[in-house]
Amino acid sequence: MRIVFHDLTVEPEPWLAELRRAFPQATVQSWQPGAPAADYALVWAPPQQLLDEQPQLKALFNIAAGVDALLKLKLPAAVPVFRLDDAGMAVQMAEYVCQAVIRFYRELDAVEADSRRGLWQQRAPRLRQDFAVGVMGLGVLGQRVLGALHAFGYPLRGWSRSARTLPGVQTFWGAAQWPDFLRGSRILVNLLPLTPETDKILDRRALMSLPVGGYLINVARGRHLVDEDLLAVLDSGHLAGALLDVFQQEPLPADHPFWHQPRITVTPHTSARTLRRESLAQIIGKIVALEAGALPQSLGGWVRTEVGY
Ligand code: OXD
Repeated sequence: MRIVFHDLTVEPEPWLAELRRAFPQATVQSWQPGAPAADYALVWAPPQQLLDEQPQLKALFNIAAGVDALLKLKLPAAVPVFRLDDAGMAVQMAEYVCQAVIRFYRELDAVEADSRRGLWQQRAPRLRQDFAVGVMGLGVLGQRVLGALHAFGYPLRGWSRSARTLPGVQTFWGAAQWPDFLRGSRILVNLLPLTPETDKILDRRALMSLPVGGYLINVARGRHLVDEDLLAVLDSGHLAGALLDVFQQEPLPADHPFWHQPRITVTPHTSARTLRRESLAQIIGKIVALEAGALPQSLGGWVRTEVGY
């Protein structure tokens, strides 16, 4: 068996070593142009050349939850693609979003600023019912986030492309219910996949539909958001602030206005890191099952034609 690996954002050696431990008979290498035909490829944001040169792959593993970097490319027609399914990311996302919601609701940024100035100043308690949290995207991550928020008693809302019901969550779906969903979501959390339909979904119109004093948490992709629109809506005073973890260009350029808008908090794409051990355990399990004859679809694999691209 031959496995190739391509992820320019990580040190490859520990990934290769773990794969070699799992498959001692296999040849496991970082992908180079012209590499021999492989059985499996583990990739993050690969070049088109890798896909063009490896049409015989038994499977392509995307080392991330989001497949937007792959969907920009021409995928080999018959190769099943797998993305990470949770792999330790959902609990991190739940932690990150809960701390952000609580920080905003409890005004902890202001409390911290007071304390730095040596000020003992209590704030009037706010009404939890006024801080409904609306989560866009009700997949594995969205559901885990809503489950975690449930413990704190915020009114919960969820929006997805097709209808879903979730206990304790008021759900909305499709374009028709999008405006209603936004209108009642004081805190908006974006966890959508990036697709042609969701590109720039957070534009001026959407942001102005949130209640006055609303707050945006973007933990999905930078391209969901129209940057200038967020800045204008914050300047207008309509929104109270935003926490942004993802950006159109990463790292966020030093001269980007987001760094200088005091009501925007920037974090470096850190809400849910890809965990090597958990990711590899999932991928290795799938390779073992595929080698034993499992059908890719039964393990969550898909080929591009099946999803209508
Ligand atoms: C992912 C990410 O898609 O880390 O997994 O953003």
